Amino acid sequence: MSQNHTDPIPATDHAPVESLMHEHRLFAPSAEFVAQANVSDPAIYDEADADPEAWWASWAEKLSWVEPWTTVCEFNAPDAKWFVGGKLNVCYNCVDRHAEADPNRRAIVWEGEPGDDRTITFGELKDEISQLANALKAMGVGKGDRVSIYMPMVPELAMAMLACARIGAAHSVVFGGFTAESLQERTNDAQCKAIITADGGWRRGSAVPLLKITRAALELGCPTVEKVLVLRRTGMDEIDRHDERFVSWHHVVPEQSTDCPCEPMDSEDMLFILYTSGSTGKPKGVVHTTGGYLTGVSATAKLVFDLKPDDLHFCTADCGWITGHSYIVYGPLANGATVLMYEGAPDTPDKDRFWQIIEKHRATILYTAPTAIRTFMKWGDEYPNRCDLSSLRLLGSVGEPINPEAWIWYHETIGKGNCPLVDTWWQTETGAIMVTPLPGITVAKPGSATHPFPGISIRVLTEEGHGPDIRGPKAEPASSGFLVIDRPWPSMTRGIFGDHDRFIKTYWSRFDGKYFAGDGISLDEDGYLWLLGRVDDIMLVAGHNISTMEVESALVSHPAVAEAAVIGKTHDVKGQAISAFVTLRAGIHGDEALEKTLKKHVGEKIGPIARPDDIFFSAELPKTRSGKIMRRLLRDVAEGRALGDTTTLADPSVVNALKNVYEDKEG
Ligand code: PRX
Repeated sequence: MSQNHTDPIPATDHAPVESLMHEHRLFAPSAEFVAQANVSDPAIYDEADADPEAWWASWAEKLSWVEPWTTVCEFNAPDAKWFVGGKLNVCYNCVDRHAEADPNRRAIVWEGEPGDDRTITFGELKDEISQLANALKAMGVGKGDRVSIYMPMVPELAMAMLACARIGAAHSVVFGGFTAESLQERTNDAQCKAIITADGGWRRGSAVPLLKITRAALELGCPTVEKVLVLRRTGMDEIDRHDERFVSWHHVVPEQSTDCPCEPMDSEDMLFILYTSGSTGKPKGVVHTTGGYLTGVSATAKLVFDLKPDDLHFCTADCGWITGHSYIVYGPLANGATVLMYEGAPDTPDKDRFWQIIEKHRATILYTAPTAIRTFMKWGDEYPNRCDLSSLRLLGSVGEPINPEAWIWYHETIGKGNCPLVDTWWQTETGAIMVTPLPGITVAKPGSATHPFPGISIRVLTEEGHGPDIRGPKAEPASSGFLVIDRPWPSMTRGIFGDHDRFIKTYWSRFDGKYFAGDGISLDEDGYLWLLGRVDDIMLVAGHNISTMEVESALVSHPAVAEAAVIGKTHDVKGQAISAFVTLRAGIHGDEALEKTLKKHVGEKIGPIARPDDIFFSAELPKTRSGKIMRRLLRDVAEGRALGDTTTLADPSVVNALKNVYEDKEG
């Protein structure tokens, strides 16, 4: 065995609680990795726990501040302020200070789906962002305004985020796969003054008509939007010259001065809003602020990914999600590392695209999602085996629990057994990674996200609020419960934009004064944490949060539908797939054509990721006597299990009828 191998250690005989597979091997980092790691001394955990505020302050001190803070943290649950009184600019920290130190170092290496590529140095990035920031100012955007960004994965997307940060405007990035209605809803909720978009973007060989969709959103009504800045990417569309709201990026941005001072921002000023699904259906505008967020993402990027200035960090997420915000843009760039950004699909032109990109650019870190890993497994080893992946030195996973089979495949087939694998648990709301191995310290158990990041206090609580001390000398075996965070952390969300009551109700009411994440979690006898999935009505479909309510509302907005109940059922690639149970209005017959129509309808309302995988028509839905739909039973039906307790149903025959419908359909 080579020295550089991640050694399997003979396991203890304690099977992890609710493990998905009987995988008993443990994986320790190699001596070689440990020797070069940013952190290799486990004392870091005790040091952070002994004085969390001092620990976080030591990370904040690594940033460049215009004015120092006076108080590290003020916390009056749920309201937190970090680095109170301090002033800084995020763009300065992510771009300018590195440009000043070495303007020729690479900041962004970008690969377009058609195969075009571009490398941007920190010096170039600073100039281009400054020009864009000046263009935004000329469009009337300034400090305190909000801007929707609806763009493909091109470098200009990262520039748009950073240009907003430079002038003190908060961005709200809307994923390019979302529909006009979703863009409109988010733009209006955040009262955005401008939208930055592109004519289109490449996805699986076709151009996604972003400008056309933006126009449709404006037609639906976006009263606060004064200007729309449009980048030319595909050449598929032209801006509307008769409409003064539209501004061509190519006409306006290059003309601007490359001199644009960074606006000094209060540590607690809003940096961005990012919308995420909520269990009541309406998306929540999760707010992140300046100093705390940047401290959290820069510390985690450095320790979790063992990030060094000469790394090429390839995070495959889209900037429309929090993973792209924190670990494509802000975390790695704050550390002066180089990020690799890819525009398109993993199977275009062929199923080896990611591996080709890694080989071509010599990426050192790969951060992707279990759903992608399971897809690659299904496609077969021939694709990665065609490429030279020897530049990789660390692998990461995020978005949903990674099953041990996928963990092992990723470790062996992609990492060749040489790369530590970090399974990172966190959320849009937490801003930064919360539960994770530290690659130079942690002995990994496949399928477990292992331990809280230093300074983070996770609890595993029962309904009544009891739970073991997870850092205690001996954890209570097999305890499982709700994931709760009982100490503030810098990158925690400061709220839901415009809806503080909902913020309190969703996260801070279940366990008084503590953050309730909405995930189930268990702790094994060795003190390892295992994520068990959502405990609320949020589905995790291919790593994306989609609320059952959101899909139900889309379904009932169709004239044929009387009532709908949606559940996430286990799916071997996507983690969860969407099953919808639908009752139709009187006189309407459910057939294949209607099923297709309804799937398309949901796709158009929310976006393709929310399309149900299957729709079952039923005369009635199983309800309790008080009229609540029993989703648990629908899940039993959809997953082909024996039905659980049906005694609380108003009419138990309903569920049996449904089971027959399901079995007929599945054959
Ligand atoms: O259920 C957890 C799951 O994703 C949820 C957060 O989704 P989102 O806000 O979209 O952020 C995703 C990227 C950070 C969590 O509540 N989740 C995320 N990472 C993991 C995970 N579940 C298990 N293991 C993970 N590593």
